[in-house]
Amino acid sequence: MSSTPFLLLLLSWPFLLSVSALAPPAPALRHKRSNSPPLGFYDPRNNGGSWLTQVNDTFPAGLGEPINVVLLATSDSAVLVDQENNGGLRNYFLSFGFAGECLGQHSGSDQEANLGDGHGYLNETAVIRYDYGDPTLGTCKETVEGGNHFRYWIQSGSSADSGAVFLAVSYELPEQFGHDIIFNGYNLARDWLIGNATAQSTLVPTSNLTNGTTFSGQTSYGGYVYQTSVQYVSGYLSNTSNGINHYLSVGANGTNAVDGLVAMMNVKILTSPASGSTKSSSARLHAQSSLFPTFVVLISMLSAALFFA
Ligand SMILES: *[C@@H]1O[C@H](CO)[C@@H](O)[C@H](O)[C@H]1NC(C)=O
Ligand SMILES: *[C@@H]1O[C@H](CO)[C@@H](O)[C@H](O)[C@H]1NC(C)=O
Ligand SMILES: *[C@@H]1O[C@H](CO)[C@@H](O)[C@H](O)[C@H]1NC(C)=O
Ligand SMILES: *[C@@H]1O[C@H](CO)[C@@H](O)[C@H](O)[C@H]1NC(C)=O
Ligand SMILES: *[C@@H]1O[C@H](CO)[C@@H](O)[C@H](O)[C@H]1NC(C)=O
Ligand SMILES: *[C@@H]1O[C@H](CO)[C@@H](O)[C@H](O)[C@H]1NC(C)=O
Ligand SMILES: *[C@@H]1O[C@H](CO)[C@@H](O)[C@H](O)[C@H]1NC(C)=O
Repeated sequence: MSSTPFLLLLLSWPFLLSVSALAPPAPALRHKRSNSPPLGFYDPRNNGGSWLTQVNDTFPAGLGEPINVVLLATSDSAVLVDQENNGGLRNYFLSFGFAGECLGQHSGSDQEANLGDGHGYLNETAVIRYDYGDPTLGTCKETVEGGNHFRYWIQSGSSADSGAVFLAVSYELPEQFGHDIIFNGYNLARDWLIGNATAQSTLVPTSNLTNGTTFSGQTSYGGYVYQTSVQYVSGYLSNTSNGINHYLSVGANGTNAVDGLVAMMNVKILTSPASGSTKSSSARLHAQSSLFPTFVVLISMLSAALFFA
């Protein structure tokens, strides 16, 4: 029996190596945070926190704005890292048309939130604004002309270290009106953000949403493709205007300023660019481990060839 086919197989070893190295990473490598709680966040109220922010100098005193969107800790861990590279949070925001503030300048007031993670009340991590299709200068337009924007906080204190990202989303009037919020502007802003993040072709129907309504879709930026699955959930915020900042203009005529729904977002990275990402190193690791069975088969065939030769 000729050993030529087996020699050919052996010679093809480098070819097999390179092919395997190009194999896409297995979904199992897309880690969730190891400590992510089953729901994807800890309820801030369990440890002295609140689903309302604290706004200073309101009348009457002590009003807050709703935290109406959560980016769940069950999302791919890369998305939960507060950075623009490696497909992180800022790149994800850019994928659905939201960017950091105009020319990096922080304008607008700070708000504090307590996520029940042991940090107590903290100012927002940053303010992120709708970029009107221009990631570089579009948020300057938002600052002047108004539009959709949000503040966000990361649940990362040692008492509730989920890594989930909590967003207080609202739609503001132009600067000349003192950045008041438009009528129904907490609920609508949430739903326009979700409409963009799930690439809906029609508006999310705010008045028809109930506990359990879902949406999903894909967005991309910088070579990363994100799959966002959203479920609206009640029971965290109250369906009310009581205690809500701008309650007189946002809620009116039977519409509560807050409808009581929080949009829970679960985000997966479907595609990463070929280079410059942590994913590619995972892919190489995976390729190496998946070569092991191939190696065993080749050695067995070679032994058989030598035995029968
Ligand atoms: C709100 O007011 C309190 C008391 O004056 C002050 O300590 C706190 O820093 C203010 N917070 C913000 C976000 O301005
Ligand atoms: C929040 O920012 C304000 C200024 O806007 C500052 O006075 C306050 O100390 C900050 N609060 C915290 C908890 O860092
Ligand atoms: C996307 O966001 C913009 C700005 O807030 C809004 O005008 C538009 O209706 C949103 N699209 C969807 C599908 O919700
Ligand atoms: C809400 O539901 C009603 C009844 O199904 C329907 O007639 C209406 O068009 C829906 N509204 C929106 C904004 O989709
Ligand atoms: C909302 O629906 C979920 C199931 O999706 C259920 O577990 C939960 O109790 C509901 N919340 C309220 C406040 O009814
Ligand atoms: C509420 O209804 C009154 C009377 O119809 C109207 O004048 C007012 O503009 C309405 N307010 C809002 C915010 O729609
Ligand atoms: C909130 O309450 C209003 C009236 O009190 C009701 O019409 C609406 O359906 C409620 N919204 C949700 C999402 O439960």
